[in-house]
Amino acid sequence: MNILVTGGAGFIGSFLTDSLIKKGHKVRIYDNLEYQVHQGKIPEYLNKKAEFIRADITNASLLDKALQDIDIVFHEAAMVGVGQSMYQIGKYTRINTYGTGLLLDLIINKHKKHIKKLIIAASMSEYGEGLYRCDNCGDIKPDLRSEQQLQKKTWELVCPNCRSVLRPKATSEKTPLITSSIYALNKRDQEEMVMMIGKAFKIPSVALRYFNVYGPRQSLANPYTGVAAIFISRIKANKPPVINEDGNQSRDFVSVHDIVSANIAVMKNPKADYQIFNVGSGDKITILKLSQLLIKLQSGNNSGLLPLIRNEFRKGDIRHCFADITKINRTIGWQPKMNFEKGLDELIRWSKTAYSEDLFDKAQSILQKKGVI
Ligand SMILES: NC(=O)c1ccc[n+]([C@@H]2O[C@H](COP(=O)([O-])OP(=O)(O)OC[C@H]3O[C@@H](n4cnc5c(N)ncnc54)[C@H](O)[C@@H]3O)[C@@H](O)[C@H]2O)c1
Ligand SMILES: [Zn+2]
Repeated sequence: MNILVTGGAGFIGSFLTDSLIKKGHKVRIYDNLEYQVHQGKIPEYLNKKAEFIRADITNASLLDKALQDIDIVFHEAAMVGVGQSMYQIGKYTRINTYGTGLLLDLIINKHKKHIKKLIIAASMSEYGEGLYRCDNCGDIKPDLRSEQQLQKKTWELVCPNCRSVLRPKATSEKTPLITSSIYALNKRDQEEMVMMIGKAFKIPSVALRYFNVYGPRQSLANPYTGVAAIFISRIKANKPPVINEDGNQSRDFVSVHDIVSANIAVMKNPKADYQIFNVGSGDKITILKLSQLLIKLQSGNNSGLLPLIRNEFRKGDIRHCFADITKINRTIGWQPKMNFEKGLDELIRWSKTAYSEDLFDKAQSILQKKGVI
């Protein structure tokens, strides 16, 4: 099949491209090599067997050309920094939301006959806080913590009815979406636009809500995304990973290889059509634990490096969210395969020779100046 991978030069898109080519498909990559991610260079790992179009997702005539003779589209291209999206509102919305609008526009007006499926990279950030359980009141989907609560440094969420501390619970696709960043809102828009147009024009469409993806090739010089990559670039520069709150906030870390296998599985299986799925590991891990594992794997136990726990909050951050992956498992039989420590080990081995630049402090001061944190 002829497959278009937008954002195919990026972290997830490049592994997806490799896997599709290995399976015998013809892949066309469409990517503008966003400077913040690629520093103006074509990444070494870019698959030589793929056709590469360097162009912007908002360029109608080049995107139109890229869609010629395509059977399946994976739409991965996006600006991906949550904090950055709060002050680059125009840019994020143009690339993420308008870019997806243009892609859909071209598909239904000019390429509808040959497009057989469209798969969109959605995000766990659409949920805002995850789902929680109160021992007295049952399941709760809370709002973000108030600034008043955060100023008191009481980090865990409490039940809005009885004030007891809530326990995080696996978040299913039915959980209401309460976005708290422009990036999350863009992702929600992308997802809804793709599902709406897919249904209206009978183009099988699937949205995959990725949780926190980690693995080789995630830019170690983009300080706005990927906590594992940001921590690694700090450790490589012999500086401590910086942790907000007390470090006991948790996320669901899923290997890029599992993300690829989920994309391939939904591509192949018509039972996935017109559905939205979580794609995560189904497990939660605290940010403190992540930082400790990365230090241990990268520098050994005797490096003397310790995570720096700030005990301060960042506006808009959630406390816990991890995936309920029952739906994708029951519908098409997909499940993650990567063991977390093995996955981190692969990431660390890659990072030893990868280009990295610790731009964390610079990014923090920009975010501070803009009033985002
Ligand atoms: N990494 C994660 O944890 C995660 C989680 C949830 C969702 N996602 C989504 O997965 C997709 C891939 O993310 P990633 O982690 O591989 O990020 P990435 O930054 O490595 O890849 C994105 C790619 O899109 C390209 N791109 C950016 N702006 C573009 C434009 N204007 N025109 C054309 N190409 C452009 C970039 O050059 C880059 O190669 C994104 O849609 C992202 O929102 C990622
Ligand atoms: Zn309660």
